[in-house]
Amino acid sequence: MNPVVNSSENMILVVGATGGVGQLVVGKLLAKNLPVRIFTRNRDKVNQMFNHENHQVDIAIGDIRESDTITSAMVNVTSIICCTGTSAFPSDKWQFTTSPNFIDVALSIFNRDILEGKAKNSPMKVDSEGVKRLVSLAPKNLHRFVLVSSCGILRKNEFPFKILNLFGVLDAKKQGEDFLINSGIPYTIIRPARLIDGPYTSSDLNTLLQATTNGKLNVVLGTGDQISGESSRIDVAAACVESLFYETTVNKVFEIVNQGERTNTIDWERLFSQL
Ligand SMILES: NC(=O)c1ccc[n+]([C@@H]2O[C@H](COP(=O)([O-])OP(=O)(O)OC[C@H]3O[C@@H](n4cnc5c(N)ncnc54)[C@H](OP(=O)(O)O)[C@@H]3O)[C@@H](O)[C@H]2O)c1
Repeated sequence: MNPVVNSSENMILVVGATGGVGQLVVGKLLAKNLPVRIFTRNRDKVNQMFNHENHQVDIAIGDIRESDTITSAMVNVTSIICCTGTSAFPSDKWQFTTSPNFIDVALSIFNRDILEGKAKNSPMKVDSEGVKRLVSLAPKNLHRFVLVSSCGILRKNEFPFKILNLFGVLDAKKQGEDFLINSGIPYTIIRPARLIDGPYTSSDLNTLLQATTNGKLNVVLGTGDQISGESSRIDVAAACVESLFYETTVNKVFEIVNQGERTNTIDWERLFSQL
């Protein structure tokens, strides 16, 4: 156990706190009475999501594309959990300056610059440049930077990851991961597979089907990007928070999926000790 995280001196910045995993991370941190600062683009969303007047929650309005907003959010921050993301495929989340037509989209599979020039919030802007900016502006004495990334980063030329990476999401996430690994900041990189369990924030089949573990599937961790399947947002969020408490997760990259019959309690200490 890492005693540092229990200190009242802590301030944990959750970036992407209004997303599916991010909301759950905030909830889990609050349940452990840890001081939380939410980094968000949208105060109204936060007001709706969190009854923050009853909790010890700070709010920092910002955007990971804007350095000045990040710098002011970093004051007294001791750990960061970054759950930001945008859609893997072109969508409104990319914030196009002018709507791309079908031909632009098709051609951009071969030349990503075609869409990149029109998209303000593409995977390259969020998962690569945004994460690099966050890491660069993080306090140098940060205890931990936890980054939610993705399975498939080392298998981007294999099915189904080749499809997922058609518009570069895995390339962008790899750039973000590598920058963090080389930063000298103690890190933990968590790579989920396809996300299931609510809040259903992505526009995919799992959202359409409201795919769920029903709390019945066990947590399995892997390394070297070899496992596949589906990952509960609830367990991904728990892994983000629990990893702060264990030295065994420092400077580790691991995949997380849900498989097999769930045990009564998830023994994070044992899971992390296998990494
Ligand atoms: N969906 C999957 O199956 C899957 C699989 C593997 C890995 N992942 C990854 O897992 C992570 C969590 O997924 P999720 O479903 O929780 O994602 P999500 O619900 O889409 O949440 C993404 C969060 O990032 C924030 N964000 C986006 N652009 C931003 C910007 N420029 N500045 C600041 N914040 C920004 C969003 O803010 P707003 O609320 O303001 O929009 C939102 O809070 C993501 O990195 C995702 O890529 C997803």
